[in-house]
Amino acid sequence: MSGVILDLMSEKDLDAVVCIENASFTHPWSRSAFLSELSNEYSHNLVLKLENSPETYQIIAYMCYRVTGDDAHILKIAVHPEYRRKGIAFEFLTHCLALMPTRRIRSAILEVRQFNLAGIGLYKKSGFAIEAQLPKYYSDTREDVILMRKNFLKEE
Ligand SMILES: CC(C)(COP(=O)(O)OP(=O)(O)OC[C@H]1O[C@@H](n2cnc3c(N)ncnc32)[C@H](O)[C@@H]1OP(=O)(O)O)[C@@H](O)C(=O)NCCC(=O)NCCS
Repeated sequence: MSGVILDLMSEKDLDAVVCIENASFTHPWSRSAFLSELSNEYSHNLVLKLENSPETYQIIAYMCYRVTGDDAHILKIAVHPEYRRKGIAFEFLTHCLALMPTRRIRSAILEVRQFNLAGIGLYKKSGFAIEAQLPKYYSDTREDVILMRKNFLKEE
């Protein structure tokens, strides 16, 4: 998508990020949860900015992941509802995943709700495979949690 810039998330982005978060999840992270992520030394927090003019932009997507040991744990990826189904999440995730093996990360892992078909579709398309499924893990909806992993070893 033209006019889109990848940037590190900063505190000034949080109003827009929390707005997308609230529109995307039934149990959204609070502003303070994002603030704590921003100060976590293991955390990588990125935003996609759509430039409206050289001085103004709109945040259209974000992603948070933590690197611990050999693994990158993907905690969040969300796209503004008006910009979905345009390939933005796939491109964003593909870009981040491509950098991981160059940083000695051996695999990326994540959890996703069983009925989050958009999330599961995105992750499968990005090369993640289901590693385990734990029944009725989420107490609110009684959904299973699906654990997924993408190994980079064969790509090294
Ligand atoms: C999941 C999400 C990030 C996808 O963003 P997106 O930019 O619309 O996704 P893309 O257009 O890049 O689609 C990539 C693939 O994801 C899957 N997908 C995306 N939206 C889908 C939907 N509504 N239903 C089924 N599959 C979907 C498809 O496999 C798609 O590939 P295709 O276009 O070849 O069919 C977005 O729907 C979102 O923000 N959801 C709320 C937050 C969330 O659930 N995040 C994931 C868990 S942390």
